[in-house]
Amino acid sequence: MARLILGQTLEFHGNPLREGLGAVRHRARGGVLVEAGRIVAVGEAHTLKSSHPYADIEDMGEALLLPGFIDAHAHYPQTRIIASWGKRLIDWLNGYTFPEEMRFGDAAYAASVARAYLDATRAHGITTASVYCTIHPESVDALMAEAEARGQRMAAGRVMMDRDTAPDGLRDTAEASYTQSKALIERWHGRGRLNYAITPRFAPTSTEAQLEAAGTLWAEHLDCLVQTHLSEQPEEIDWVAGLYPGDADYFAIYERFGLAGPGAVMGHAIHLTERERTALRDTGTSVGHCPTSNTFIGSGLCDVASLADTGIPVGLATDVGGGSSFSMLRTMAAAYEVGQLRGRALHPAELIWLATGGSAEALRMGHQIGRLAAGMEADLLALDLASTPLIAARAARADDVWEALFPTIMMGDDRAIARVWVAGEPVTPPA
Ligand code: GUN
Ligand code: ZN
Repeated sequence: MARLILGQTLEFHGNPLREGLGAVRHRARGGVLVEAGRIVAVGEAHTLKSSHPYADIEDMGEALLLPGFIDAHAHYPQTRIIASWGKRLIDWLNGYTFPEEMRFGDAAYAASVARAYLDATRAHGITTASVYCTIHPESVDALMAEAEARGQRMAAGRVMMDRDTAPDGLRDTAEASYTQSKALIERWHGRGRLNYAITPRFAPTSTEAQLEAAGTLWAEHLDCLVQTHLSEQPEEIDWVAGLYPGDADYFAIYERFGLAGPGAVMGHAIHLTERERTALRDTGTSVGHCPTSNTFIGSGLCDVASLADTGIPVGLATDVGGGSSFSMLRTMAAAYEVGQLRGRALHPAELIWLATGGSAEALRMGHQIGRLAAGMEADLLALDLASTPLIAARAARADDVWEALFPTIMMGDDRAIARVWVAGEPVTPPA
């Protein structure tokens, strides 16, 4: 049975960061027709109603219909240590993150956090994420099984970290990481809506042998993603330079081991040299922009608009739990604030794009999710633009949809997520 969801709609035909506002079309009274888990048509409400008189109608009123948000970089095992106080990256990893990640060899604990993580993200309108697990295969099984049960498109992978810079109890070997990752690819990649992401944590916790194993694995499974971290903090970059004295810069290490290219997603990528920016573009490597994390851990101000201008695919990411929020609205707000501090005010259309189509393209899923368009998988959300009295009062003054939307981006939270659909089925309670 076809389902016709009505509300305001935004259709992106391109990337507004590169093509301007001409890339997006707003309908004040639009509709999304869904059947068998996919979008069949997007158009004017009255046209769709008369051409599909037998469709079930879900009228979301003035709410804005969007694709489900896509988080381009997150760590589900850090769900329980989000908002940990007072440390910069390396101390934060050693003091908070690594001790918590050691617990994920316990399958029951991993399953309980995976459920909590997927509940929290879905309540915030996130329908797909690219997720780091831990070195334990159990941590991948837990997330993949739970995502599969919920029918969500999800990318995830077993973290690889074998260098003696990683702590006892959270260190693997090049060989074990290769063998276990390969077994997980065979178990999960391409099953239903699941994708595997080969996940060397970052250059300083891997030996060259492990990065080489990761590159070999990708060459053997090119339709998997690769995810890692790049140039997040100056101290980290100095550390990497000491560990890899023969490489021109941080990104050159990943290039040397075959870990650059379309489908490779670099988290952060804040402090780049001109050569690295050019190389990211020339290789087609993507960036996951993590603004709440970058301010929370004190990493720096990523010039995301100029990365996009350069032609690098950029998505938006919570980086939970280095990031301080599960909310993509809050993450968009942080991207806006970081942009202001860099002298470039991101338009609401650009912020929404980064959280939907931009992330989809960064994850090489732009043909499946991230836009309201016929043929796309029907992961959707309805955004209430009047979810609190203060937001409603501000939006009531708006002259156009962008001005009506911006207060929700800046001040909204999960109360603004009126309904979420996964593969065309509502998964949050009707409002
Ligand atoms: N660099 C390597 N690992 C991590 C991580 O877990 N979080 C963040 N923010 N940066 C990292
Ligand atoms: Zn991260």
